[in-house]
Amino acid sequence: MSQILIVNVGGQYCHLIARRIRELGVQSRICTSETLENELAEVKGIIISGGPSSVYDPDSPVVPPSVFSAKIPILGICYGHQLLAHNLGGTVRPGKLREYGETSLTVIDNDSILCGIRKNEIVWMSHGDEVVKVPPGFQVIARTENCPIAAMSNTDQKYFGLQFHPEVSHTLCGSIVIKNFVFNICKCSKDWDMGGEILRLKADIQKQVGQRKVLFFVSGGVDSTVAFSLCAEALGPERVLGVFVDTGFMRKDEREEIEATFLAKGWHNIHYIDASKTFLEAVSGIADPEKKRKRIGNSFLDVQRSVMKQLGLGSSDWMLGQGTIYPDTIESGKAKFASLIKTHHNRVELIDNLIRQGLVLEPLKSLYKDEVRDIGRALGLPGDMVNKHPFPGPGLSVRCLCSEEETRPKSDHALSSIVSRYGLKAWRLPLFTVGVQGDYRSYRELVLLSEGVELPVYSMLASQIINKVAQTNRVVFILARKSPHLNIENAIIRPNRFLTMDRLDLLREADDLCRKFLEAADLSGEVWQFPVILLPLSLESGETIALRPILSSDAMTAKHAELPMDFLAELSRRLCEIKGIDLVLYDVTNKPPATIEWE
Ligand code: XMP
Repeated sequence: MSQILIVNVGGQYCHLIARRIRELGVQSRICTSETLENELAEVKGIIISGGPSSVYDPDSPVVPPSVFSAKIPILGICYGHQLLAHNLGGTVRPGKLREYGETSLTVIDNDSILCGIRKNEIVWMSHGDEVVKVPPGFQVIARTENCPIAAMSNTDQKYFGLQFHPEVSHTLCGSIVIKNFVFNICKCSKDWDMGGEILRLKADIQKQVGQRKVLFFVSGGVDSTVAFSLCAEALGPERVLGVFVDTGFMRKDEREEIEATFLAKGWHNIHYIDASKTFLEAVSGIADPEKKRKRIGNSFLDVQRSVMKQLGLGSSDWMLGQGTIYPDTIESGKAKFASLIKTHHNRVELIDNLIRQGLVLEPLKSLYKDEVRDIGRALGLPGDMVNKHPFPGPGLSVRCLCSEEETRPKSDHALSSIVSRYGLKAWRLPLFTVGVQGDYRSYRELVLLSEGVELPVYSMLASQIINKVAQTNRVVFILARKSPHLNIENAIIRPNRFLTMDRLDLLREADDLCRKFLEAADLSGEVWQFPVILLPLSLESGETIALRPILSSDAMTAKHAELPMDFLAELSRRLCEIKGIDLVLYDVTNKPPATIEWE
């Protein structure tokens, strides 16, 4: 029986809380607000997650009053903090300023839940509403500049509320806060480890698959490879078949590299299929990222069906295996109450139908990338495979921005007033990218800053701009222009730029140069992922490349990486030498408010 019960009210980070507790060697379980009342037996502590709702929304999740009479310690995080305040007689209002990302926390009382943390800490926030009056019996124990009640406690009842997210890795003191709650307040004991988890996963696979076989579509990425090997170990290799589909959205030479790795591992039960034409046709003339993602997801399924038919696989004997990990599920808005951020290719409607029919096996679906890597290591997979940078299923298709109409960069008074004292110019680009703000998806304009200041200044400006300037969620600055005479005032977003083989080849060339440069400078291990994006912004006749190196541990939050400026200067100079590239940009936005991928 798990000791900590996590109430999922739809937050992006609910499973991350569970995972942080597992890291402490304590088993945890997730329930919904509807089932909470029936799951309290033997529970030593309850954590209410964050979520996209406002406590005043008529259909927002609630905690039944009986939970408060169970005398179990409760920690509310973000929405959970607001819900505690609302339920117990405090007041919640929309905040004057929204806060997304890094914030400085001032601790007023570091006893109990905040024990052992410093008076000033960097924490991560992502919220619109805030608590403005604590309930009777509660004390305010921490504040931020924009949020006077950033943490509250009632030590008699053992109820605690945090507006910030202790579970995200970028809240550096977060693990201390969670440890305080789990061990000091709830008095849990250690009952979980990775070896036991692998045995549990294998037993689950055997139970779910029964006498059937499993067909996996392997991409060469960490998730599908680990899922494939776990199944091969659980069921025996003769009951697991792999198919590698070349979508045309792969990186340069990727197919050859993957083939070589699988062969070196001695896996001969893998078929290779070139479906690039099918995929390109499916997205022809489409600019909207969600439409692109759905078309690609459906094409995956069409190809899967035809492969199963070609191989003569009867559906009653076979299951479809997928390497889905938790962030794919949560950001596709498939967890209860969670908001759609982007539809991952393995979470489209047709797959959901197969899931409902019990035909899909997803052994890693509640885990995070670094846990999947740990499992891969424990299964003896080679280091270069396990440590590979993550690459999204839809591949370069989500890194190649499309456009329908001709538009131009626009000046904006609010932007200029923030950046002018640094001698910078700023423009809004009518190119939209995806973000995650207050647990909701945002699709907003990109902000472009001129060259001239150091990276940390750009980083500080990015937070200010996004918190203060409406309808923005991502900030980039200029690293290099093909020629210094090319003027941004004359830039054009070219019309009718869609996913074509020529544009994808151009992106492949730029992406390959970045990858090789990073490896040559021995910087691959310094970044968690390095998306390279092509956008139809033209200064002369070419397009623009944006660099998005990030630091993360689980993809749920991310910081833009600060690579050495001399490295970036040389890399961007070389990128500008590629025919068809006019401009190179650097993305200085964290997640939240922006997502890692642009689409
Ligand atoms: P975002 O852009 O949502 O990305 O911050 C989080 C992580 O997920 C990867 N990603 C995907 N992976 N299918 C996948 O398998 C997808 O559709 C997809 N979209 C994003 C992304 O590269 C990052 O590591």
